[in-house]
Parts: sequence; structure tokens; C-alpha cells
Amino acid sequence: MAINVFDELPPSGVFVNESVLSPEFLPDVLPGREKQIEQLAMALRPFAVGRKGASVLIFGPPGTGKTSSAKSVLTQFKDFAQKAQVAYINCWQHYTQQSVLAEACRLMGLAVPRRGLATDEVRSDFFNHLQKHGIQLVLVLDEADRLFHKKEEALLYDISRATVPIMVVAITNTPDVFQRLDPRVKSSLSLQAIDFPKYNPLELKTILRERAGKAFRKSAWSEDVVGLCAAYAAKAGGDARVALDVLWKSGRQADRRGALMVQEQDVRAAMAEQDQLNASVAKRQAGANDIEQSILAALDGGPKYSSDLQKELDVPERTFRRHLEQLAQKRVVSVEDEQNVGSAGKRRLVKKV
Ligand SMILES: Nc1ncnc2c1ncn2[C@@H]1O[C@H](COP(=O)(O)OP(=O)(O)OP(=O)(O)O)[C@@H](O)[C@H]1O
Ligand SMILES: [Mg+2]
Repeated sequence: MAINVFDELPPSGVFVNESVLSPEFLPDVLPGREKQIEQLAMALRPFAVGRKGASVLIFGPPGTGKTSSAKSVLTQFKDFAQKAQVAYINCWQHYTQQSVLAEACRLMGLAVPRRGLATDEVRSDFFNHLQKHGIQLVLVLDEADRLFHKKEEALLYDISRATVPIMVVAITNTPDVFQRLDPRVKSSLSLQAIDFPKYNPLELKTILRERAGKAFRKSAWSEDVVGLCAAYAAKAGGDARVALDVLWKSGRQADRRGALMVQEQDVRAAMAEQDQLNASVAKRQAGANDIEQSILAALDGGPKYSSDLQKELDVPERTFRRHLEQLAQKRVVSVEDEQNVGSAGKRRLVKKV
């Protein structure tokens, strides 16, 4: 029988459960988030006993436990409020009203065809379903600012006017977009804001200690290692994701040396690895800006069709489309579909705003 390369790998010297450090792991306890968790639970409680609750806006920088805290509270909410249902939707994956509503229907067990339905039809399927079954719905819109990029926030208008009980939990890095909402919508959703500030070094240490205890062998980690990772993440914006990632990479470095304990040298190597990764991301972003600059320069003389623009700049089509989309999202350019009379194709006119 052929040898399986995975069976041949040496056993890890430091990890007992490496997956505890992976981004998918949902911890049972979230140190430093006790106050926010209580605020969210208080906001949800009236809804659990059948009264209309205020909707919630959770905001804060990356890696501050917004998604994890919301998931943890809502899992407990489902046990507590047996009549209510929860639909968790990531708006990076579902960024149109139609897609959000179709996904919410799917999560409630109502199949909606992926294609061929108009937004209005999906919307009425969604609201009818809630009405017919007397469902109280908590609609979690994670990364909700994505809806605003393409003016898909009209979804919130529909919800604010709905006669069925829906409570929205919107999660975002950039709460400013919500300021743009119509004041009537804001007041009927009565959004209650919950702030998730960045973690300080002490909080990061507590988070890391908790996780290191589960991920590593008993004597394979130390307070020093945790302290170094926490300091690095504190500098990187108080981001728990960065802290856990550096700790994980440190463990891997130790494994690569065949060591039985994570040492300072491993953490230093992990930080260097992380810095290098950040530098290459920064470089890619600078490159992106170059293309965006040349798109803008080419539009100085007036609007152009997107296909002409792409040929003029001689950038691969997908790259071009991606950057054009970025500029449109930033509202630096507008892109309008124009029916091309006499042929089947559509042309897109690009203008500087
Ligand atoms: N208080 C905490 N205790 C333990 N782990 C935490 C805590 N806060 C965050 N984490 C961990 O950090 C990572 C990022 O957390 P999470 O995804 O909840 O952040 P977020 O605020 O939603 O970030 P983003 O804005 O980028 O979506 C996850 O792996 C999570 O398990
Ligand atoms: Mg998140």
C-alpha cells in the first residue's frame, strides 16, 4: 500500500489541539466583552418575550470580537426564546437586498429559486412567510456596510415599515454609513449602538492565555510568549485575530524546529513572517491605486465606455473590472448601463462624479 504523507509527518511537539487557534474556532468565553454581551442580551430580551425590541448596531475595528460575541449571544438567545428565529447573514457574501432576503428564507427552511425571481417577489415571499407562521425574526447583518456600497440599504427601509416582528442586528467596522439613513428609518428601527473598542494589551493577554491553554501541551508555552504576541497585536490596532494568528504561527515555527516548547525566537520569526505578509498586501494595494489613478486620468476629458477604457489602458479585463468597481464603490466614478440600440449587448458608460 502507498505511504500516506500525512501519516509520515512527525507528531507535533507543542500542539495538542491546533484548531483552537484557527479563525473558525468559536470560543465559549470572550474575555473583555462581558459588557457588550450583556448589552446585546438586554436589547434582545424584550423580543424573546414577544415585545418589539430596538434594533442594534454593533460597531468597532477589526478583530474586536463583534462577530464572535453576536454569534455566542444569538446561540443562547435561540435556546432561551423558543419562538424566535435567527438568520445570520454575511453581507460580503449576500450584498443585494434580494440575496439577503433569499438567504434569510433559505435559513428559515423556505426554498427560493436562485434565479428567475424579481426582488419584489422574494420580498413578498419573505414577509408572507413570517406573517403566515407568526415568526419573530432576528436578522443579523454582519459586514452590513457592504449593503450601502450599492445602495442596497433600501432593505432596511422595508424592514422598518414591516408589520411583522423583525429585529435587526447590524454589525459594521464603519458606523458612519448608518448616519446616511433616512431619519424616519433610523427612528423606527430605533437603532441602539454597542461599541466594541480595540483590546488593550492586558485584555489581549487574557484572550491568548485562555486559548494557549487549550491549544498547546502543558509546558509548551509561557507567559513571555503570550506577552510578546499581545504586545505585537496591541500595536497592530488591538486586534485579537492578529494576536491569535501570531501565536499560532509561533507554534508552527517551534514545530518546524522540532522543539518541545515555543520560545521567544519562534515568536520573533512569526512576527517577521506577519510583517512580510503585511508588506506584500500594502504593495498590492499601492498597485491597485496605480490602476485606479490611470482610470481617473483617462476620464479627465469626459465620459467613456468601459470597454474602450479597458482597451485604452491595456489592463486585463478582470483586473480592470475590479478596480472600476472599487472606484464606483468609493463613489469617485459612476457606471451606467446603456442599452445599445440595434444590438443585443449592453454598454456601460463611465463618468467621473
Ligand atoms: N474576547 C475574545 N476572546 C476570545 N477570542 C476572541 C475575542 N475577541 C475576538 N476573538 C477572536 O478573534 C478573532 C476575531 O474575532 P471576530 O471575528 O469576532 O472579530 P470582528 O470584530 O468580527 O472582526 P471584523 O471586524 O474583522 O469582522 C476570532 O478568531 C475570535 O475567536
Ligand atoms: Mg466580523
